[in-house]
Amino acid sequence: MAQQVECSTPQRESILTDGGAEPRAVCFPMLKGGFGKSIFANTLAGVLATRRDHDVLLVDLDPAGHLSTGLGYYTRENEDATDLANVLLDGADIEEIVKHPGHGFDFVPSLNLERVVDELSKDSVLASDLKMKNEFVDPLLGETYDYILFDLPGSRNKLTNNAVVAAPNAILPLMPVPEALNGLRETATKLVAPIRQQLGAFDILATVPNDLSRRVDQNTKDRRLLESMNTDEHFASYLMAGYDGVDPDSGDLPEGTTVEEVLDAHIPPFARVTAADWEAIDSGERAAPKVPIRHSAAFGDAYEERQPLTAYDPEHPQLDHFETLAVIVEQGGVQA
Ligand SMILES: Nc1ncnc2c1ncn2[C@@H]1O[C@H](COP(=O)(O)OP(=O)(O)O)[C@@H](O)[C@H]1O
Ligand SMILES: [Mg+2]
Repeated sequence: MAQQVECSTPQRESILTDGGAEPRAVCFPMLKGGFGKSIFANTLAGVLATRRDHDVLLVDLDPAGHLSTGLGYYTRENEDATDLANVLLDGADIEEIVKHPGHGFDFVPSLNLERVVDELSKDSVLASDLKMKNEFVDPLLGETYDYILFDLPGSRNKLTNNAVVAAPNAILPLMPVPEALNGLRETATKLVAPIRQQLGAFDILATVPNDLSRRVDQNTKDRRLLESMNTDEHFASYLMAGYDGVDPDSGDLPEGTTVEEVLDAHIPPFARVTAADWEAIDSGERAAPKVPIRHSAAFGDAYEERQPLTAYDPEHPQLDHFETLAVIVEQGGVQA
């Protein structure tokens, strides 16, 4: 008999609990564009603020500024305006760069980021990766804000290094495209593993499929992504990259750790489809689930209206899954 696992409905009772929430800085460091980092950052900020009642700061560190545009801020360079470089390096007041878009959270738009990267790169090597932590996150977190979220570009620079050091809690969205696993592998080996070896701790709070729209009882792109996320030992080893005994090339995990344990601890319940579930789906014993996060035109429509989805359509069904993610952020990980 196949195990009863509700992979299409989040296990709300077990996961939606109050308490245990502690201030946390979170980043979206996927080294690949177009997987949903900015959509996730924007939506999660809205959910943490409006549904979970937290004080939230969202920061756009992508020079392309899509997130800023989507919240109504134009990202023209302006050398005269106070920017993040002034805050990180010259002691300018953080308040000078914080905006209030009016959707329950505060926001630092993308401004002069190329200059910020240049200025950080000129700084003394030793302390230059700690500026964001020392001058920005530490003074604000637990004081002014419960959660600080950094939206990052799909490539690394001095500023993204600063952000991942300051916000060692990652959420990794993945799209059902052929390069998804390679994107995760790159992120794991080039960003997560070195940071873990340097800092000791860098948590992947969750990895989440995004933009799903196809059946999963046939060999579709969605099926291929979901099945490899949920069963592949390499996928599990990418999530553990940088820890002792882990080898992303062979898929080796630390002694005594199973693939299932790692996946249970990193994939939200709504997207966890175990080997037994796949068997039941393929034998017709159970209906194929519609696994979130779904492709939804509302994300693009909200962007056009320069609003987060929580403001554009507060009852949108995908927001329930972002609320599950918000609880994962509060709890510091998926509770296996
Ligand atoms: N679940 C989704 N449904 C519909 N469109 C989506 C979804 N997720 C992302 N998109 C679209 O895909 C594109 C890339 O998403 P984005 O969040 O900008 O990715 P990234 O920040 O990783 O580059 C955007 O145009 C966005 O609107
Ligand atoms: Mg983006």
